[in-house]
Amino acid sequence: MEKMNREFSMEIARITEYAAIASARWWGKGDKIAADGAATEAMRAMFDSVSIAGTVVIGEGEMDEAPMLYIGEKVGKWDEGDFAVDIAVDPLEGTNLVAKGMPGAITTLAMAPSGTLLNAPDMYMDKIAAGPKCKGKIFLDASVTDNLKAAAKALDKSVGDITVVVLDRPRHKAIIDEIRACGARIKLITDGDVAPAVSCGFPESGIDMMIGTGGAPEGVLAAAALKAIGGEFQGRLHPMKDGELERAAKMAGKDPLRLLTIDDLVQTQDVMFAATGVTDGELLNGVRFYGNNEASTKTIILRGSSGTVRFIESRHHLDRKGEKTWKLFAPIA
Ligand code: FBP
Repeated sequence: MEKMNREFSMEIARITEYAAIASARWWGKGDKIAADGAATEAMRAMFDSVSIAGTVVIGEGEMDEAPMLYIGEKVGKWDEGDFAVDIAVDPLEGTNLVAKGMPGAITTLAMAPSGTLLNAPDMYMDKIAAGPKCKGKIFLDASVTDNLKAAAKALDKSVGDITVVVLDRPRHKAIIDEIRACGARIKLITDGDVAPAVSCGFPESGIDMMIGTGGAPEGVLAAAALKAIGGEFQGRLHPMKDGELERAAKMAGKDPLRLLTIDDLVQTQDVMFAATGVTDGELLNGVRFYGNNEASTKTIILRGSSGTVRFIESRHHLDRKGEKTWKLFAPIA
């Protein structure tokens, strides 16, 4: 099967970079809708120059609820012969984090040959994530205690030195209690579980595992990143509201509550993932603005077929990118 052109990795980095710059203008201004809108608009605009035949499979919602980057939207140039790809986007992951000027917000997307990314519905998913050393050793359906012991063995650490990220929600009380009873370290986060899941693949981040229930679309993005680097991710859709079970069946197929392995979520090794920091995080610094309309970004790009990991630090001259682009991220006050 033909592989995605490796040059696409630079294209997707540019997309997440520009979305990050646009939303970073809203850092700490208390307006998560505007921060998300700025990222979405910039991301959508940047797709126009990419030579792909892309279809959004994970996006900002259904066509009638999202003005752009909605599920099913065609993105890219769609010239004859362009590679057909599935696109998963979260233009701003951690909208509250940007609104409050808190760490951990990223702009992110994944791309893979058409038909290979699970079309996860917008509902909750139970998730567990860890890095390559834990692959095949931790299980969503195992107890927290067993998973911590298995991870400690795989990582050659004591359980007390394992750091687990958990969203700080009442629904996670039992998980948090069990982690504490085992003596492991917890990092509670208020929002944004994609960045910590990806961080599990990088020991320098200080994060070993992510457990808990969060957004299913975010689960596919995290799985894409971990698949690219040989990490572990498992999920299970967790419908809570009326109609969600039917929707899960429609989008995820027969037996929608089955365990979803990383290979179910991302059905190819030929996956690319990019994320740019908006606010500072464990793996990526956030956007910095300097005088003279300059800004810097830090981006991670993962290419699954080769396993290459790239961190790109870019310095942007924002007013030299053309008038159309400047409008996406000109200062707002
Ligand atoms: P945003 O869509 O506001 O960026 O929030 C994303 C997120 O924090 C995810 O990272 C996480 O999976 C999910 O929301 C958690 O949902 P909830 O806030 O309902 O617990």
